[in-house]
Amino acid sequence: MKSRSPQGVHYETLAASASHHIDLQTGAVIPAIQPSTTFARDEQYNLINPAHGYARDKSPTYLIAEQVLADLENAAECRLFSSGMAAIASVIQALGSGGHVLVPDSFYWGVFSWLKSYSASSGLKVSTYANADSASLASVLDELKQAGDSPGLVWVETPSNPFLYVTDIAEAAQNAHAAGAMLCVDSTAATPVLTRPLDLGADLVVHSATKYLNGHGDALVGAVLTNGDNSLWQSVAEQRAMAGSVPGSLEAWLLTRGLRTLFLRVRQCCSNTLAIAEWLEQQSMVDKVNYPGLSTHQHHAIARQQMQGGFGGLLSFELKADKVATLKFVGALRLIVSATSLGGTETLIEHRASVEPPETGVPENQLRLAVGIEQVDDLIEDFQQAFDTTFGT
Ligand SMILES: Cc1ncc(COP(=O)(O)O)c(C=O)c1O
Repeated sequence: MKSRSPQGVHYETLAASASHHIDLQTGAVIPAIQPSTTFARDEQYNLINPAHGYARDKSPTYLIAEQVLADLENAAECRLFSSGMAAIASVIQALGSGGHVLVPDSFYWGVFSWLKSYSASSGLKVSTYANADSASLASVLDELKQAGDSPGLVWVETPSNPFLYVTDIAEAAQNAHAAGAMLCVDSTAATPVLTRPLDLGADLVVHSATKYLNGHGDALVGAVLTNGDNSLWQSVAEQRAMAGSVPGSLEAWLLTRGLRTLFLRVRQCCSNTLAIAEWLEQQSMVDKVNYPGLSTHQHHAIARQQMQGGFGGLLSFELKADKVATLKFVGALRLIVSATSLGGTETLIEHRASVEPPETGVPENQLRLAVGIEQVDDLIEDFQQAFDTTFGT
């Protein structure tokens, strides 16, 4: 992965300076929030600024965050949405009625669950392949082609929730393109700090910008990015302008603010997570740790090749315990907060089996950890006291 952007400076610099969006009228270094939903016309009925007529289409505040994010992902285009789910829904809905999407058999439950209800009402066809398994992806695509039922889109989430599978994006892109499909990557957990899917051949990238990109747990935002003028993108952009699933100006501004520290936060999350993963692996009450940074992880080799400078801030681990003892362990934590989500500054732990149905196969002794930027010794001490209290270790 290249460290310098086509603009000549490093990607860290583009993020830290929010791509130099200095307000030329005031000289302000930090961009202002523009809350106006509408923009005036002059005596000749021309828009005073031709770029802006109504904020559902474009707003100066979204445009700044979209530009910074596009620069970081090496994308030509970016559109913000009101949430990660709204961004994802816009891509899937762009397939149109009678569309067909090929998804992994294990990924973020929210998308899986929405696809189930949306496909029932819309006629969208959903097929599955074994997550992060290129041979399975190729053979399912082949079978569908033989049956004259090729999908328009292949979906990848890497690293994936909550097992942290890592997909080889370049290989997935080759397989998808050979079958005439496009590839969309949910890169929420990787962020452009670690992986830039468009450079690896993906056609579209989506983010729950609610997570690392904003990074402070205080704004719900989504994003879709592309570097080509493909048909799905045209529909995504058109639907965003017309159906208007846009974020508020404050949320877009908070995203730009968060992006300024993205590299520092993600790198601290990565180093904390690796230290915790290695420590957890040594604990007598831990059965298994899922983290692509561990040499024991089944996708460590591709993670090393594809993820630059770290393996992300998410891990999951399984205790040698039943559901009751697993929940008791979570309840014994003092510093680590028991809550859903990821990508903030504080560490969150979640018992996914309590929120997902049994069909997703998440074990009842599994906990997902979204590591923050705290001093890692404090997090490990919190785990140690919870092990002692719960299991008398
Ligand atoms: C990988 C991934 N994609 C998408 C989403 C949905 O994002 P949002 O909560 O912003 O709608 C999430 C939320 O947890 C997620 O983890």
